[in-house]
Amino acid sequence: MDYFLRKKIKDLLKNPESAGIGSDVTVKGWVRTKRGNKNVAFIALNDGSIIHNIQIVADVQKFDDELMRQITTGSCISVKGKLIESPGSGQKVEIHAEIIELYGTADAETYPLQKKGHTLEFLREIAHLRPRTNTFGAVLRIRHAMAYAIHKYFNDNGFYYLHTPIITGSDAEGAGAMFRVTTFDLDNPPKKEDGSIDFTQDFFGKPTNLTVSGQLEGELGAMALSLVYTFGPTFRAENSNTPRHLAEFWMIEPEMAFYEIKDNMDLAEDFLKFLISYALENCFDDLEFLNNMYDKELLERLRSIVNTDFERLTYTEAIDILQKSGEKFEFPHNWGSDLQAEHERYIVEKHFKKPVILTDYPKDIKAFYMKQNDDGKTVRGMDVLFPRIGEIIGGSQREEVYEKLYSRLKEMGINEKDLWWYLETRKFGTAPHSGFGLGFERLILFVTGMSNIRDVIPFPRTPMNAEF
Ligand code: 4AD
Ligand code: MG
Repeated sequence: MDYFLRKKIKDLLKNPESAGIGSDVTVKGWVRTKRGNKNVAFIALNDGSIIHNIQIVADVQKFDDELMRQITTGSCISVKGKLIESPGSGQKVEIHAEIIELYGTADAETYPLQKKGHTLEFLREIAHLRPRTNTFGAVLRIRHAMAYAIHKYFNDNGFYYLHTPIITGSDAEGAGAMFRVTTFDLDNPPKKEDGSIDFTQDFFGKPTNLTVSGQLEGELGAMALSLVYTFGPTFRAENSNTPRHLAEFWMIEPEMAFYEIKDNMDLAEDFLKFLISYALENCFDDLEFLNNMYDKELLERLRSIVNTDFERLTYTEAIDILQKSGEKFEFPHNWGSDLQAEHERYIVEKHFKKPVILTDYPKDIKAFYMKQNDDGKTVRGMDVLFPRIGEIIGGSQREEVYEKLYSRLKEMGINEKDLWWYLETRKFGTAPHSGFGLGFERLILFVTGMSNIRDVIPFPRTPMNAEF
């Protein structure tokens, strides 16, 4: 019963009239601060529904001394009282407490969030408690809103959500090193006569791994439903300790039959603009907080993206710009070499000063499935590069011609036995098609203005870190 009585602090602050000024309300949440004197206590209460706290005013005389002492930063309480227009300037309404129930104390000596102003590095060490900070509350609410907006965008545009497997028996995508999935006793796995491990006795009867991407299965869906997308966790066992890489991250991968590379670019641009507009319209309080705390240009940057045409150019043109730039780079930038973050950021941040879509990469630095151009040297790959982030989307038009796909696979030394099912889509009713992958955490990095990817996922997985 109590559950239905609880009012969300968001509803009281945003819409006090409908809650009824002067009426009795019940709120529940965690105490952010308590101040006051021996007559009156002011408690700032937060329930995570909104970044702002509601002020609880308690007439100290009315309550048990011990209870009042135990209400400290971090403790959890339920408060019933009158919703009153606040005389103070900080808030529209406050609650004059009549009944306070203490759910859980938080010892002031040991509660790690007793004081404000912890560094983000320290907060990573207490990932079990950091959702209770303003920063992580804001990030997590924005993360939720973006996940919802992604499903909304695709649903509104006629895409079907396809659930692709997390455990995969093919390691042919080549997107990165993989995590092995096995039920073997690692101290004593079954061996074949030649001494090698006998995977026919493993759970799936073959070696399996955590997926690096849902794309290949996504293509199977697109060859039947026309427009599909995946949105799930993906895993890369690379030892990349950077502010942009996770070992476990979420990826959104639309795959579209009958789309060529230009359609793919149009979709990627429209999709990103929709998501950013959605954040501006629906997460303003949280964005404003992050703008003021961390990144004074955040709101301006988000607004500018929505109103800018992304620059589109080929890899070859980008190399030309780098070579003429006169800039000193750490890594080489000859035609044929992969672009490094420093190159991408130069093109985006210094040269064009807006998002850039690069296409037509040398085939040797891209995956086997990308559609080959007639020049015999390049493929119809596409990367979307964003300011502050670098690569936010990677995708391509896919090679739909069986013979071309097959010969590329062979050239790259990929075992066709692993991909017979993928090849069959090119044998039976093949069609031009395209798709891309958006790194969810890279999107959240961009939208929140945070600078480390470990701070935009609740429980980051990075090399040497899987504590929580
Ligand atoms: O460029 P990637 O590797 O592309 C693919 O996996 C394709 N199968 C996608 C497709 O065409 N369907 O990864 C796509 C995006 C990158 O642009 C980046 O945003 C993100 O995924 N990403 C990572 N994000 C966090 N940590 C990592 N280790 C990431 N690796 C890639
Ligand atoms: Mg990529």
